[in-house]
Amino acid sequence: MAAYFIATIDVEDSKTFDLYRSLNPSLVEAAGGKYLVKGLPLTALEGDDLRSRFVMIEFASEAALERFYNSPEYAALKPLRQRSAKSSIGYVNTDSATSHRTGYQIPRFGDDVVLEPVTSAMPELGPDDLRIQPTLISLNPVDWKIQAGILAALPFAFPYTPGAEGVGIIEAVGTDVVGFRPGQRVMAFSSLVRGGWFANKVDVSASQCALVPDAIPDEQAAAFNVPLLTAHQAIKLHPGAVKRALVIGASGSVGSIATKLLGHIAESVDAICSPGNADHVTALGGNVVTPQEAAEGRYDFVLDAAGGPIIETAYRSLAKGATLVSIVQPVDEERARSASAQAIRYSAQPDGGQLSDLMARHPDLPAPRVAATLPLAEVNTALHLLKYGRVRGKIFLKP
Ligand SMILES: NC(=O)c1ccc[n+]([C@@H]2O[C@H](COP(=O)([O-])OP(=O)(O)OC[C@H]3O[C@@H](n4cnc5c(N)ncnc54)[C@H](OP(=O)(O)O)[C@@H]3O)[C@@H](O)[C@H]2O)c1
Repeated sequence: MAAYFIATIDVEDSKTFDLYRSLNPSLVEAAGGKYLVKGLPLTALEGDDLRSRFVMIEFASEAALERFYNSPEYAALKPLRQRSAKSSIGYVNTDSATSHRTGYQIPRFGDDVVLEPVTSAMPELGPDDLRIQPTLISLNPVDWKIQAGILAALPFAFPYTPGAEGVGIIEAVGTDVVGFRPGQRVMAFSSLVRGGWFANKVDVSASQCALVPDAIPDEQAAAFNVPLLTAHQAIKLHPGAVKRALVIGASGSVGSIATKLLGHIAESVDAICSPGNADHVTALGGNVVTPQEAAEGRYDFVLDAAGGPIIETAYRSLAKGATLVSIVQPVDEERARSASAQAIRYSAQPDGGQLSDLMARHPDLPAPRVAATLPLAEVNTALHLLKYGRVRGKIFLKP
């Protein structure tokens, strides 16, 4: 959406004004502005307070227009115009006419709470934010967990629009954002407290966004953010090189990517999943084992991406110096220490730079299995499926 710089001008000193007029277009052009009307005479139909010449310049966004107007280069030029002409200057932001969002919100936490569509005016775009029009939204278990109140200790504000990740097109950029511009395709894992993806517009900190390479389809870009960052960051918690790894819950989104990433760095990657998912995990390079087959004291890195009592297998299988990371449940640090190992409960952190880097370094990541793609308006069905459906693969929402 564009913003239009508008000026009406009465020139009083044409020599000085011509100097201004000769210098200004290059500044406008450098700021991405495009002259739609360049000083043409204005014909009055009513009223007698119009000035005689009209200028209209289009900018991609209000932020781009303000960047131009407040730039030191324009500040240096402005006195020439002010000395040589009487001007009225302003702008129209066409964003403001369309800057409404429909988001699916919850008024409180609870298993019984359903998401309701609420249309409201977009807040002013934060200086460090991107305003994104989602093209595909990916669901994660954390979405129903937040809805149910399992993470209520975090400082959520209500009404809250859930949704942690997705892909979309940048509509506008905040004034301090560098490296992104409107029209680009970006992917992001938003901070959970902010959420916001279950909507037709979402504001995300630019530091949490990554440009999507052209070769990456929307399914991957929407669904890689949370699992890829979680898997990568969890593996990095082990201080040394990983030799023998065990992934528990290897068929899930995080487990699949962890299995693949560990395959690049470890000598062996054993993987636990349900029998129906064994082929999928084998194709990722994991050596599928049963909990009983996961040998005692064998592994120097264990990822628990499943939760529940299977963590007993994890403790038993730790080698000396090993790291156990659970992304699902609390860990018994003392128990790991007594086996000369460490246990960490980890929560992944959004990081756009890390995401860009990982996407560039791992073009071979497996495309997500698509379980279902539903219209955004069916978000409650999608969440129900995610929580109770035991689906294999990702559920997507399409705005
Ligand atoms: N701490 C963090 O930062 C963080 C980040 C991402 C995810 N997580 C958590 O990590 C866990 C895995 O996340 P994910 O995104 O990989 O999940 P996912 O894609 O839904 O996969 C979960 C896997 O768990 C197994 N499973 C066991 N019981 C299940 C059930 N009742 N319903 C569905 N699946 C079940 C399934 O594998 P099998 O059928 O093969 O057993 C499934 O492939 C979740 O609990 C999630 O909340 C935490």
